[in-house]
Amino acid sequence: MEKIQVKASRNYEIIIGRNLLKDTAKYISQVMEPCKVCLISDDTVYRLYGEEVKNSLTASGFEVCSFIFEKGEKSKNIKTVSSALELMAENNFTRSDLIIALGGGITGDIAGFAASVFLRGIQFVQIPTTFLAAVDSSIGGKTGVNLESGKNLVGAFWQPSLVLCDCDTFSTLSYDIFLDGIAEALKYGAIIDRSLFDLLIQHGDKIFTSSKQGPWDTCTDIITEVVKQCVSIKRDIVMKDERDTGIRQLLNFGHTIGHAIEKCSKYSITHGHGVALGMLIVAKASYAFGWSEVDCSGEIKQALDNFGFPLNSPFSSEELTAVALKDKKRTGESITLVVPAHIGHCYLKKIDISLLNTFINNGL
Ligand SMILES: NC(=O)c1ccc[n+]([C@@H]2O[C@H](COP(=O)([O-])OP(=O)(O)OC[C@H]3O[C@@H](n4cnc5c(N)ncnc54)[C@H](O)[C@@H]3O)[C@@H](O)[C@H]2O)c1
Ligand SMILES: [Zn+2]
Repeated sequence: MEKIQVKASRNYEIIIGRNLLKDTAKYISQVMEPCKVCLISDDTVYRLYGEEVKNSLTASGFEVCSFIFEKGEKSKNIKTVSSALELMAENNFTRSDLIIALGGGITGDIAGFAASVFLRGIQFVQIPTTFLAAVDSSIGGKTGVNLESGKNLVGAFWQPSLVLCDCDTFSTLSYDIFLDGIAEALKYGAIIDRSLFDLLIQHGDKIFTSSKQGPWDTCTDIITEVVKQCVSIKRDIVMKDERDTGIRQLLNFGHTIGHAIEKCSKYSITHGHGVALGMLIVAKASYAFGWSEVDCSGEIKQALDNFGFPLNSPFSSEELTAVALKDKKRTGESITLVVPAHIGHCYLKKIDISLLNTFINNGL
């Protein structure tokens, strides 16, 4: 088991290990007295892990009420958050009570946002159960939901009090959902750490075979190592720029276009798959525009192809541009892109929005 400390507007620990869920209460007791807990989860995750977590908590004196929503990005909206808030109010939750997010990034974003606004803010704990949530969304305190107009347009910075990451939960992920996390892990490698990018490529076949056909155990050590490395990178970045005004924006590599792909597909293309394509498009376009030292698109394409990602955008540059212009990263008439200089180093580049369509077109 590994513990990684985060020092931000709230200090907290990220515990990474195996077989941790059965002892959920033990870890939570280190940061909270027994209290009321709203356990937020989607239907799939609750069916798999809800009882185990609930049983551990109730056995230690926590009073649990569960809020279960229908899985998928379509549930990541204000209506779901407001139903969770109503449930807590009906059950007389107070400021000393707790929300637990048990699930993937969607659960974490919904639960974290609910925690940030309920009674002007209560504590919450992240228990990520997807590879993507473990390497990315469960840490750093970005919470929020989608509006009809676009992704993550409503939200708050609200840090968890603890992140409890049990890597054994990834064994029940479908390969496609597992891949979403691979995209974010490759992203960290591309923006800041060439050796992480290489590590993923080096073990790609093993990860591919064991997560597609099992036995999962043969790749868990590699995956746990990747989680630790990604979490450390994100922790370092968040500690330098919690509010996303500078270096943290590098974590958005592939995201402006990725979000547009998700939205254009009505969310049938998931976040990580959108980001994967987004990184490839940006890499190709950046080289065409003379902004990269080398053409990174070849290596990114090769890496994505090895893992079995689809490599073609089903959408035109016009369709993607129209949605991307509603992105949070737009300020007035400009938008900030994350551009790869080479694998292991990205930088921020502000461009005029009038360039975006041509830029994307060059990446397709
Ligand atoms: N807040 C942040 O910093 C941040 C960062 C990255 C992504 N995100 C957000 O995260 C979301 C994507 O997260 P995600 O990919 O985890 O999606 P998700 O939460 O929808 O999980 C994906 C699917 O996997 C299922 N699932 C979860 N854990 C499982 C398990 N252990 N076994 C079997 N099935 C399981 C879920 O039911 C769901 O159907 C997007 O909305 C994205 O915008 C947020
Ligand atoms: Zn992401």
